[in-house]
Amino acid sequence: MKDWMIYGANGYTGQLIARAAVQAGLRPRLAGRNAAQITALANELNVPFTVCRLDDEAELHQALQGMRLVLHCAGPFQETSAPMVRACLRLGVHYLDITGEIAVFEAIAQQDSAARQAGVMLMPGVGFDVVPSDCLSAYLARRLPGATELALAFRALGSISRGTAITMLTMAGQGCERRHGRLILTPPLRDVRTFDFGRGPQPCVSIPWGDVATAYYTTGIPNIKVFVAIPRRMLPWLGIVRTLLPILRPRPVRHILRAWFRRTLEGPDETTRRTGKSIIVGEVRDERGQRVMSRLVGPEGYALTVATALLIVQRVLNGQFAAGFHTPGGLYGPDLICEVPGVVHYDGENNLECI
Ligand SMILES: NC(=O)c1ccc[n+]([C@@H]2O[C@H](COP(=O)([O-])OP(=O)(O)OC[C@H]3O[C@@H](n4cnc5c(N)ncnc54)[C@H](OP(=O)(O)O)[C@@H]3O)[C@@H](O)[C@H]2O)c1
Repeated sequence: MKDWMIYGANGYTGQLIARAAVQAGLRPRLAGRNAAQITALANELNVPFTVCRLDDEAELHQALQGMRLVLHCAGPFQETSAPMVRACLRLGVHYLDITGEIAVFEAIAQQDSAARQAGVMLMPGVGFDVVPSDCLSAYLARRLPGATELALAFRALGSISRGTAITMLTMAGQGCERRHGRLILTPPLRDVRTFDFGRGPQPCVSIPWGDVATAYYTTGIPNIKVFVAIPRRMLPWLGIVRTLLPILRPRPVRHILRAWFRRTLEGPDETTRRTGKSIIVGEVRDERGQRVMSRLVGPEGYALTVATALLIVQRVLNGQFAAGFHTPGGLYGPDLICEVPGVVHYDGENNLECI
């Protein structure tokens, strides 16, 4: 039985994954709550479909009958993952998603023993965040055994989809890092430091991305921070941005911004996805002061999400899974990301010629 489902298949990312899956000869069942869009896409791709809501348990259970795996692409996942995970555990269906949300990783990690009992694999984060960075973290932990600090920095070139913007809104106004193994809330964008993405030091600010959760499960490193590159000209404005960010937290403000994002954001076009690049720098340190860094260069973020999600779908369908909660780099090892065409690892401080 190789039946599997993409839920949220009509969204920007779900649709990219559905199209690429069919092109790769896979035959997903497309699902989501928007009957018109799901039906149209399934008919175009000539694949089966199901229209169902997440808040109707009976309908969801019915939709999952006979499925071996769900790739959940409907976010923000803080609003959508719990009912899908519950249904997967109940019906013995493996669960993958493309979240990058710390709270979601932590909530799903809590289901580890339930998943083991059910013989189900729960692997959130099979997209751009966290597959490449999780593999990089696992790789660095192997290069410096006993590392106590991990810092990851992302430089993703290109625009973002409305779903990503809406999801980032749920994290706005708050920072998060891991200290001595525990998640600690911090003021937003608190830390500023430079990372070298291959063309000299570039300023970066700390952000609450998923690796703060997942890299700990993958590597056991107790202190973790995640950063994103910002233009140097933004540095003088950071104080004002930090002060303004908490304004985004109240529900009515988010509501207005959500509606605006829905109307105005499209996501990167085909050319951007084909030509764009993402770069991740990882650095580990140990208590003796040793420091090791590596860079990973790969395709544009959404293109990478499609590739990594389908890579892991195929692994699970081929029987390469383990019951319980798992991270991509933790289960499949650091070399998983090397299977994605266009991904290159660099060690040391040398500048990159290829960017
Ligand atoms: N980790 C990564 O690297 C990565 C990469 C790409 C995307 N993502 C995440 O993936 C999510 C989707 O992004 P996107 O760009 O595809 O967004 P999108 O175009 O806005 O699509 C969102 C999808 O989720 C569905 N959805 C939302 N809330 C739902 C609910 N309560 N019940 C059922 N379906 C619901 C939508 O259905 P309707 O059309 O019916 O509203 C739509 O199918 C976001 O959370 C984004 O952050 C993560």
